[in-house]
Amino acid sequence: MKIKDIPKIERPRERFLQKGSEALSKSDLLAIILGSGIKGKNVQKLAQQIIKQFSDKFLDVTVDDLKNISGIGEAKALQIAAAISLVKRFYEEGKGNEVVIKNSKDALSLVYDLRDKKKEHLICLYLNARNILIKKETISIGLLDKSLLHPREIFYPAVESNAASIILIHNHPSGDPTPSEKDIAVVEKIIRAGEIMGISVTDFLITAGSGNYSFYETLKDRGTDFEYVSDGSQGALFDLLETKKADYGVDAERIQETYFYIPPMKKNHLQLQNRRYIGSKHKLIEWIFSIINKECRGGNSFADVFAGTGVVSAVAARHFDEIILNDFLYSNYAIYQAFFSKDVWDKKKIDDVIKNYNNINGEDLENNYFSEHFGGKYFSHNSSKIIGFVRENIEENKNNLTNKEYYILISSLLYSIDKIANTVGHYDAYFKKDHIEDGFFMRPIDPIEVKRVTIYKEDTNLLAKKIKADVVYIDPPYNSRQYSRFYHVLETLTKWDKPKLYGTALKPEEENMSDYCKVQAKDRLAELIRDLNAKYLVVSYNNTYDSKSNSSKNKITLEEIKNILTARGKTKIFEKDYRHFNAGNTDFKNHKEYLFVTTTNNAK
Ligand SMILES: C[S@@+](CC[C@H](N)C(=O)[O-])C[C@H]1O[C@@H](n2cnc3c(N)ncnc32)[C@H](O)[C@@H]1O
Repeated sequence: MKIKDIPKIERPRERFLQKGSEALSKSDLLAIILGSGIKGKNVQKLAQQIIKQFSDKFLDVTVDDLKNISGIGEAKALQIAAAISLVKRFYEEGKGNEVVIKNSKDALSLVYDLRDKKKEHLICLYLNARNILIKKETISIGLLDKSLLHPREIFYPAVESNAASIILIHNHPSGDPTPSEKDIAVVEKIIRAGEIMGISVTDFLITAGSGNYSFYETLKDRGTDFEYVSDGSQGALFDLLETKKADYGVDAERIQETYFYIPPMKKNHLQLQNRRYIGSKHKLIEWIFSIINKECRGGNSFADVFAGTGVVSAVAARHFDEIILNDFLYSNYAIYQAFFSKDVWDKKKIDDVIKNYNNINGEDLENNYFSEHFGGKYFSHNSSKIIGFVRENIEENKNNLTNKEYYILISSLLYSIDKIANTVGHYDAYFKKDHIEDGFFMRPIDPIEVKRVTIYKEDTNLLAKKIKADVVYIDPPYNSRQYSRFYHVLETLTKWDKPKLYGTALKPEEENMSDYCKVQAKDRLAELIRDLNAKYLVVSYNNTYDSKSNSSKNKITLEEIKNILTARGKTKIFEKDYRHFNAGNTDFKNHKEYLFVTTTNNAK
């Protein structure tokens, strides 16, 4: 058969143009280089014969070898040999070039032809701990469906090639890059698998005719080109995608938010909100206080009984004369003492001490408890030597410091190490890296003005029996993540009792394990609500409930919270869409934050 007798679409050139090089066999590609056949043998047959004859020695073939094939003259032999040499040359030169994937643009440049493909493709980029590309694989071709896609297909090559993280890229032939429900289901499944495997899923990109979409950039609330490796932390979708799909709901109101003045940051100082903390309400503060101001009239005192970062109390301090803060973590207690306590302190003294700490060179220091355990893991060796040294020095000088000064130094250290930790923001794991940047620099924290304050470090349910406030704000954990385990490095650094540490994550023995992260969460909340002495009870919760997962039993449903609160008085429910996500017409619209406000019948 002559080439012109083959239907056009099946000819190698046509196929290359329509479907790209991946749709062609080796002999098809060679046929295109040869251009034409010889008498009695069409170009495809001739190409097949050459490929077969040299098989895996093809890249070493010489002009003379080729000329020995009947029908191949010097011109054709030269054409083939030159093409081989050209590819070899580029390949050799490129071998030493590491492809670093810093942002979505870098990732998309590796699949520039994907957006024009007529079928859906899922491509995976496998990266090492320095975000250097190890390999690129096509995982599936055809409609993307969670039920058809098994995480094994993605993670097997990752394990095999020792990848630290992956980036998935998918095309939408429709031209619209907005993620579909199926995309989101796939992303959720893969990031959950990635978390279990310890392989970070850095991004899921969608490319289409009218543009590109990055889950990472959208969730991070940043513009395009936002770097995957930034301020010392590598991006991982799991931590950004804290909220999951809700499959139930309650009737809730929406409210017009009022703007609250948040003081501008003092140069070189760290403010209460400048730390990474799961469940921090910093970004919801205006919504929360728009509701409290409207619903909780005539209050004078405010208790923040699961205070976490304390950002809610910081704003409450501007509306209430008396503030009560509580959290059972040592590090949070230290932070409240530093930011809120009314104790005296000398700013110049603190600034001078911190200045001296910043002049220390890690290389001049001996190893210490902190560096022996955490050096090269959560922090670089030099940084961890300085951190351990500074913490020891604060303890040694405790007698020369007021209570507030002591805690200001500890908190300044806690806040400063958060900026350089080799983690996604908590200490459940660290990135495996050959090299961690040094970069330790201590900045002082910027304390807050409060009229009257009491600070506790107690189990909230025990505290509830002793305190009284007009408004009690209740923001318990929502899922099985134990705060004392996620922030154990901060706990160890604050307590400084140098405990024995266990496992890869170097955690101490369990302490302060919250019942709110366990099956008994609902019963504990019921007890707490029953015991609290307040005019108004304000409860925060979000819809991370997912009945399909095993951990669902650990969480409280909105309906249950409503029933528990209604037993104490008239309860209103407010909702707000989860502000981090605006993926258009998708399930993510269902992610909501809830605020329950109960006006109690029987303030004691
Ligand atoms: C969702 S976070 C609070 C976040 C806080 N509203 C903020 O804006 O940063 C829950 C907090 O409750 C604390 N916690 C959990 N169980 C507790 C308990 N039984 N007693 C006291 N504190 C607890 C955790 O340490 C964590 O800081």
